[in-house]
Amino acid sequence: MLNNSQICVQPVHDGFLRAHQVSLRMVRFDLAHPVVGGNKWYKLQHNLALAREQGASRLLSFGGAYSNHLYALAGAGAEAGLDTIGIIRGELVTPLNATLAFARDQGMQLIPVSRSDYRRRGDQDFLAQLRKQYGPFYLIPEGGANEAGVRGCQDMATELAARVPDLHGCEIALACGTGTTLAGLVSGLRHLPPDPASGCTKPVSAFVRGFAVLKGADFLRADIRRWLARVGSSTSDADWSLETAYHGGGYARVGQDLRHFVAYFSRVQKIPLEPVYTGKLLHGLYQRISAGLYAPGSRILVLHTGGLRPV
Ligand SMILES: Cc1ncc(COP(=O)(O)O)c(C=O)c1O
Repeated sequence: MLNNSQICVQPVHDGFLRAHQVSLRMVRFDLAHPVVGGNKWYKLQHNLALAREQGASRLLSFGGAYSNHLYALAGAGAEAGLDTIGIIRGELVTPLNATLAFARDQGMQLIPVSRSDYRRRGDQDFLAQLRKQYGPFYLIPEGGANEAGVRGCQDMATELAARVPDLHGCEIALACGTGTTLAGLVSGLRHLPPDPASGCTKPVSAFVRGFAVLKGADFLRADIRRWLARVGSSTSDADWSLETAYHGGGYARVGQDLRHFVAYFSRVQKIPLEPVYTGKLLHGLYQRISAGLYAPGSRILVLHTGGLRPV
């Protein structure tokens, strides 16, 4: 079960931020659940409900050998009493790495497929073949990227509004892989009611800035607009943007600069970080602040979307 009382807002102080007169706070969504923390619980909650509604007893999804999504799905499925199947890109290297070993220990059936078969993960023929082989299942696309995932992430806006009294006028920064979380957050923020305590009758408005963690991610803007339209929200990008220049060489590429930054930040701020998502986003954000892109007095909320493994 999600323990949203664990989500907290942690101020970040350092000389660099002081010098630029920028206030930065980390919203610790990663603390919401030991396994299904960060954005994962939000992406999965509506999918689990739909699976139950449809009478499914088995969930199937896709991912690489280090997939945060499959790790979370294995835990969520076990907690919900549903069987899980993870279709893994490429061969299974034994001994299994910590991600896959955990998934297997949660009862997930791990099925390795060739990279060419993996590319067919959206094909109806391929899915029909999987159904024939493994029985009926509720399908969750790679990364939990579907409409139910977007709808689930709308609740992240409600959590933010409950925890950040001065949300209006903040910039919210988050890492983007598929853009599902960003689309959910943006549409969720648009539906927030005005906060009566603030005496403000206008809706809460906060700008959302996504940091793409993969190279060549400009295509994600169209995906995000599509998700927004699917959940009945405007496709306007007046209240969000996607930064595509801070990928650091590509997905899961971790250069020395980024490695040092993550080590420094984790040590000094006592906030555990990983370099693939939240670490990369923060590194990009510090570069933007350093480049003078934030006026003095700017208030930034960084969403910690998880991805850490218990050691
Ligand atoms: C830890 C973490 N943060 C952020 C993201 C990006 O989320 P999205 O794919 O919804 O853009 C992911 C990927 O799912 C992730 O694993």
